[in-house]
Amino acid sequence: MAQINPSILSADFARLAEEAKAVDGADWLHVDVMDNHFVPNLTLGTPVVESLSRVTDTPLDCHLMIEEPDRWAPAYVEAGAGSVTFHAEAAAAPVRLAREIRAKGARASMALKPATPIEPYEDLLPELDMLLVMTVEPGFGGQAFLDIMLPKIRRTRQLIEKHGLQMWLQVDGGVSASTIERCAEAGADVFVAGSAVYGADDPAAAVRALREQARS
Ligand code: DX5
Ligand code: ZN
Repeated sequence: MAQINPSILSADFARLAEEAKAVDGADWLHVDVMDNHFVPNLTLGTPVVESLSRVTDTPLDCHLMIEEPDRWAPAYVEAGAGSVTFHAEAAAAPVRLAREIRAKGARASMALKPATPIEPYEDLLPELDMLLVMTVEPGFGGQAFLDIMLPKIRRTRQLIEKHGLQMWLQVDGGVSASTIERCAEAGADVFVAGSAVYGADDPAAAVRALREQARS
């Protein structure tokens, strides 16, 4: 079943509560945390996640584009995230970190930048509830979808099936009406969309339309 996670990176940060409500019906609200070190952009931290969790019933999917996730990720579970994604490139001990996130009660997820292959992480997959294949270089919304990531999505889906896992496969970056079908066909089942949702006149309708497209 396709899940659509609007990214509030493309929302109006001065009106976050309203912007969260504007996508009622979305599966998760995708919250991009950036620290100006792992990526060249700075967004928000645990206080905003905590406030957001109080104003929306949509569960929060926190994507940590930060250095030292081993140190900071658990605080995002405490702040109210239902799913926490750390980057493979930044984690010192991804297995320990995933176990800690799960033990605290959230879904544990790991992200791969475009140049990071999935193969070295095959044995770690059972420790994760979701794998995120980035389809742009992380850091900014509104970038063009990288078609060259489709083979990695396909190979990741094959590995998930090979191991008989129930985990989710998320794509993030440039996902829109014109690219979502390719992602779904390659095996993704969780779709992050920033500009395609918040750039639309009716964000909730955009979520429904994307979900329909991902199914077809
Ligand atoms: C990019 C972020 C994405 C971003 C996606 O680094 O991780 O979540 O918000 O935005 P779009 O959908 O506009 O590419
Ligand atoms: Zn993201």
